[in-house]
Amino acid sequence: EKAGYDHFMLKEIQEQPMALRQTLEGRIKDGKVALKDFPPGTFTDVTNVQFVACGTSYHAAMYGEQLLSQWGIPSTSYLASEYAVYPPPVDDGTLVISVTQSGETADTLEAMRVAQGNGARTLTVTNVVGSSAARESDDALFIRAGPEIGVAATKTFSSQVVALLLLGLRLADDVTGSKPSRQSELLDALADLPQQVQAVLDTSRAEHVGTQYLGDGGSFFIGRGNAYPVALEGALKFKEITYKHAEGFAAGELKHGPLALVTSETPVFAISSGRDADKLRSSISEVQTRGAPVVAVTPRSMTDIVSTADETITVPGTHPDLVPVLANVQLQLVAYHAAAHLERSIDKPRNLAKSVTVE
Ligand code: M6R
Repeated sequence: EKAGYDHFMLKEIQEQPMALRQTLEGRIKDGKVALKDFPPGTFTDVTNVQFVACGTSYHAAMYGEQLLSQWGIPSTSYLASEYAVYPPPVDDGTLVISVTQSGETADTLEAMRVAQGNGARTLTVTNVVGSSAARESDDALFIRAGPEIGVAATKTFSSQVVALLLLGLRLADDVTGSKPSRQSELLDALADLPQQVQAVLDTSRAEHVGTQYLGDGGSFFIGRGNAYPVALEGALKFKEITYKHAEGFAAGELKHGPLALVTSETPVFAISSGRDADKLRSSISEVQTRGAPVVAVTPRSMTDIVSTADETITVPGTHPDLVPVLANVQLQLVAYHAAAHLERSIDKPRNLAKSVTVE
């Protein structure tokens, strides 16, 4: 049940510290990632990774692709519906990772079956033990986020990203034989992530922002690096439950077209990965010149961004690979409060289903 919350979505947003603790439980030992089903050597034959997923899970897959690429494993994420019809070539070293909360999404299952038909090894990252995807793939890694009832995926995104990060470090260890630099810092930061998400939930100004910036002319979400999938995810969540147009872009793409749409009626959410202060500042001035109000979502240490933006939603400082996970929690809250203000059917948005079992 909703445990006193107005909506499952808000309950599930608030459950994220616990969900993340469950995702991490017993999976970091002696300063290393330890995954019971994937001991060292499991992935020695892997040379490249293809992710397949839909919607929010696709954004988590994009995040995973960036982490793996950064750690030296060639990776590409594909929309499952495209992969199923136009599959890219696979070889003996290809590992296809399907990312699906429910494990029942028809497009994702079909993409995985196509990959298997082409001889690829498959692994599913899912929340549901016994789901079709978990049963049909060669291996499964469970994200252990707990049941998610709201149609809008929230806690499962955070848990997917963390599970992919753990899996990615395990893969990197086997595939490249070298430890990603600053791995111990990343693992320490990961252990702190649940309490940092709690800090975000306890202090968020997202209700004020969500009800203030409804984006009647549309809202834009921009970010670079791993803030880019979070920009896409922020926009998806916003449109899914507010029924208002929202679009995410890689910040550098603004000037290649979307800038034509930017006016004083289109709020721009600028999400920082914590790595890109200068570039983000120039994207912010690009849209401010056109009159758009800018909401920066950034670590509070980025003081010049905080002072440039019209509004700021800050997150605690952490390893740059994790900053966008915290930013995403803020964007979930912005979408939620905007939709609540508009009295939308938050847990069951029109035309949508929790698990999409048709192609
Ligand atoms: O169960 P899955 O993770 O495979 O679902 C994929 C998408 O249908 C899902 O993430 C959808 O985009 C969400 N409703 C977005 O909040």
